[in-house]
Amino acid sequence: MKYQRLFERGQIGCLETKNRIVMPAMGTNLPGCNGEVNEEIIRYYEERAEGGCGLIITEITRVDDETGIGTPCQLCANHIRYIPGLERLARRIHRYDTRIFLQLHHPGRENRSKFIDGRQIAGPSPIMSSAIGEMPREMTTEEVEGMVKKFIIGANIAKAAGMDGVEIHAAHGYLVGSFLSPQSNIRTDKYGGSFENRFRFLAEIVGGIKASCGKKFPVSVRIDGDEFVPGGFGLEDAVKTAAALEQLGVDVINVSAGTYETVNTIIEPTSYPQGWKKHLAAAVKKAVHIPVIACDVIRKPDFAEQLLEEGIQDFVALGRAQLADPQWGNKARAGKEEEIRPCISCLYCIEDVLNGKIIKCAVNARCGRETELTGLSKDGAGRRVVILGGGPAGMEAARVLAIRGFIPVLFEKQPVLGGSARLAAVPPLKEKITWYLEYLEHEIRTLGAEIHLEREPDLEEIKAMEPYAVFSAVGGTNIIPPLPGIQGENVCTVTDILRKRVTVKEKNVVMVGSGMTGLETAEFLAEQKNKVTVIEMLPNIGPGMYTPNLIDIVTRLKKYGVTLIPSCKLCEVTKAGVKAENMKDHTAVEIPADQIVLSLGVKNDPTFSRVLRENFERVCILGDASKVGRIAQAVQAGYEAASDLR
Ligand SMILES: Cc1cc2nc3c(=O)[nH]c(=O)nc-3n(C[C@H](O)[C@H](O)[C@H](O)COP(=O)(O)O)c2cc1C
Ligand code: SF4
Repeated sequence: MKYQRLFERGQIGCLETKNRIVMPAMGTNLPGCNGEVNEEIIRYYEERAEGGCGLIITEITRVDDETGIGTPCQLCANHIRYIPGLERLARRIHRYDTRIFLQLHHPGRENRSKFIDGRQIAGPSPIMSSAIGEMPREMTTEEVEGMVKKFIIGANIAKAAGMDGVEIHAAHGYLVGSFLSPQSNIRTDKYGGSFENRFRFLAEIVGGIKASCGKKFPVSVRIDGDEFVPGGFGLEDAVKTAAALEQLGVDVINVSAGTYETVNTIIEPTSYPQGWKKHLAAAVKKAVHIPVIACDVIRKPDFAEQLLEEGIQDFVALGRAQLADPQWGNKARAGKEEEIRPCISCLYCIEDVLNGKIIKCAVNARCGRETELTGLSKDGAGRRVVILGGGPAGMEAARVLAIRGFIPVLFEKQPVLGGSARLAAVPPLKEKITWYLEYLEHEIRTLGAEIHLEREPDLEEIKAMEPYAVFSAVGGTNIIPPLPGIQGENVCTVTDILRKRVTVKEKNVVMVGSGMTGLETAEFLAEQKNKVTVIEMLPNIGPGMYTPNLIDIVTRLKKYGVTLIPSCKLCEVTKAGVKAENMKDHTAVEIPADQIVLSLGVKNDPTFSRVLRENFERVCILGDASKVGRIAQAVQAGYEAASDLR
């Protein structure tokens, strides 16, 4: 077998695992709103177990209803009424020889009063997280003692339900982690001050679980290797904490990083490479004899194998990789790496969960919908479906249609597949999008789709093919506002830049529009030694962008010296640059520039769609051609249209 280490059996205390692949905890909002285990959450986990995962750690599970509600719909372990549901979940996972731990959690100061009926959020000390903006009240000593008992009850419920172990969530700035951190814990009672006192809350939880569930009941503790917060819990604290936990009989340490204030180190945006934080797990592993689990932005099997080979960690935790492809383990085991649908680290999954919605994945339309989108009907019977446009929507549709037994005939006017996603992969640090496009292309070629590059068939040609259906996924065209000077030679679009039809080096550039594409293209231009100014008509840079993605790119743009000007509306382009209006005080602004680049979004042309509808019985308009959206919407539209074709 190619990945010997990855598929070696693992040992956590007395528990054996079939391999070294772990699915770390990920909130889903799939359980019932009263914490019930339902078929949705069971199928979601079951698909990952069936897909080859060795150990599943459930999402954050509530132990306290007063101040401890983490997400609107989450698993609960604070009452015996939850035992039967958790038992059903554990039983289904065990059918695949996969182990399951329940993650016990309290959000602490990283909660919002709206989640707890307006009550004030609670933490070790009245120190506000800037990411939350709500002042927590200091928990009383008795309250902390009571909370210890709630975690112990949670573990006992997990054990009674047949779970293989529990994980105490002591990372990410949540309640237990915030007691460990000198930045968020300035208490003067027995739970604050010295390392020993800050550690006491966690130590009492572990001690209580071991005493009541038995020494052999496996306990994992998830800690931060580094909070990356000034004055916070750092690597030295992590090493010391891990060693102390081993002394208490903890069976495995799960090393993560970050708090909500440094959220991009918990769930990394696309710019973070595989393994960037492996030094944290490596340092903890050196300090203990018990096994270490860690997430290290692991996407590819050879990288996972390398981490195990180098002794960085004993188990590889792949969160989003298994959202994107529940079959990650089986495909790696079979040596079919190119069939693994890669996570592109776009953060769409967590954005929706934090907005109180069900988990989703941009590249896997079935994620979170496992019970709804069951098997594809294989009734294509060799009928031809013409697909116009080879971006993610067109390719995903081709993939699903081919699985169903249709013959997809895909036309792409560019010399390569990928559409606008191919352009999105051009700016720096976007290689994961290329991985995804390579996966899609590999899949549709292997499944036998007919692919025609650099071809745009006209109506008569399409008719001549006598297609059963026509899917149009041709993408939109750039919006160019009718302003004076806009047709000048010094004006181009982001598409011109990313397709390299226009090359700009060591010039003054004004980027008009600060959406994701505008900012990423600004970075691309800044890398080419241009002096870039981004103007945005709206009051905030990056309208509609998910804040962690925005923080990530803006941090890099600042390093390049890119100037960002919100509330600045383009009025005219001149030979010398742009004339704009300050939207706050309506004064005129002039910005000198050699090149003006427009990033004002895309629009679709409904004419061609109308023509198709008039000429064919079954027409689906997908991706940007129907509604301008992101990869997630394109993939979802492609999947649904192809699976629903009757
Ligand atoms: C949608 C989502 C929900 C998450 N919820 C949790 C959680 O409930 N508990 C936890 O410890 N970490 C949670 N995390 C963090 C992951 O466990 C993991 O550390 C992170 O995604 C980085 O690893 P990855 O690149 O393999 O996904 C969540 C991550 C995502 C994407
Ligand atoms: S939504 Fe994006 S970040 Fe989340 S698992 Fe899917 S591809 Fe990865």
